[in-house]
Amino acid sequence: MHVLWNDQLLPRHEVHIDLEDRAYQFGDGVYEVIRVYGGQLFLLNPHLERLQRSAQAIRLDLPWSLPQLAHRLQELVAANRLVDGAVYLQVSRGVAPRAHAFPRAIQPVLVAYPLPASRPTEAQERGVRATFVEDIRWLRCDIKSLNLLPNVLAKEAAVERGAQEAILHRGETVTEGSASNVFIVQGRVLRTHPANHLILDGITRRFVLELAAKEGISTVEAPFTREELLSADEAFFTSTTQEIVPIVEVDGRPIGAGVPGPVTRRLQQAFYAAVQ
Ligand code: PDD
Repeated sequence: MHVLWNDQLLPRHEVHIDLEDRAYQFGDGVYEVIRVYGGQLFLLNPHLERLQRSAQAIRLDLPWSLPQLAHRLQELVAANRLVDGAVYLQVSRGVAPRAHAFPRAIQPVLVAYPLPASRPTEAQERGVRATFVEDIRWLRCDIKSLNLLPNVLAKEAAVERGAQEAILHRGETVTEGSASNVFIVQGRVLRTHPANHLILDGITRRFVLELAAKEGISTVEAPFTREELLSADEAFFTSTTQEIVPIVEVDGRPIGAGVPGPVTRRLQQAFYAAVQ
């Protein structure tokens, strides 16, 4: 496997991550996961623009332009002969003796490498079970930061309960999944949490909102409660790696008819057509 390490493409064993890398010690950095379909990085620019927004939000200056990054990632995909999969990209603030405040002179450290991400066709076809988990994260969930401990704990709780994904909620308000966004269908309307500081504005989320508009499905970006989710006609998750996955049950209660619904199916078809 070839890894992009700052400006170099190297075999994995030649990449050395420092003991005092701030990503390792503080989670001080940002990341992206980008899909590859047919050897092409899907929605690359929106991902890179979000990376830049996340970096700016934590006052980390990226020393590479977005076109430079795009070019390097394309080289990474080619070097690994990656056809269908994903690329993981993270930028750490850099390496310095351990102290919380920003070190003075510090160079960001970029690492990117392929993830063997196969499309979860069975989950997409049959739908999945989910479980509610209290959202205990900070108030800047719009930043795609490396601090993922609450997300890790939420996903682990889901796995332990026999569910595929956690649905996070602050009080009664549903925010998003542990690594996904959540949509519900109420009658003819598709609804998802607005893109504010309480959720990550998923690239797939935005793409699905655009697909819905093209399909003539009304959309509303407004918060909804756990009860509204439980009584919705349909519900689904979106993410880069999962695409669109129907939610058929939450904590033992069926959503709608307990099988993937027609609006979800239409959006999945539109999604598959777009990435063929
Ligand atoms: N997760 N919300 C959270 C908290 C996420 O971690 C993710 C993505 C999303 C969906 O965003 P997008 O559609 O841009 O992938 C929403 C990635 C895939 C991960 O951490 O593996």
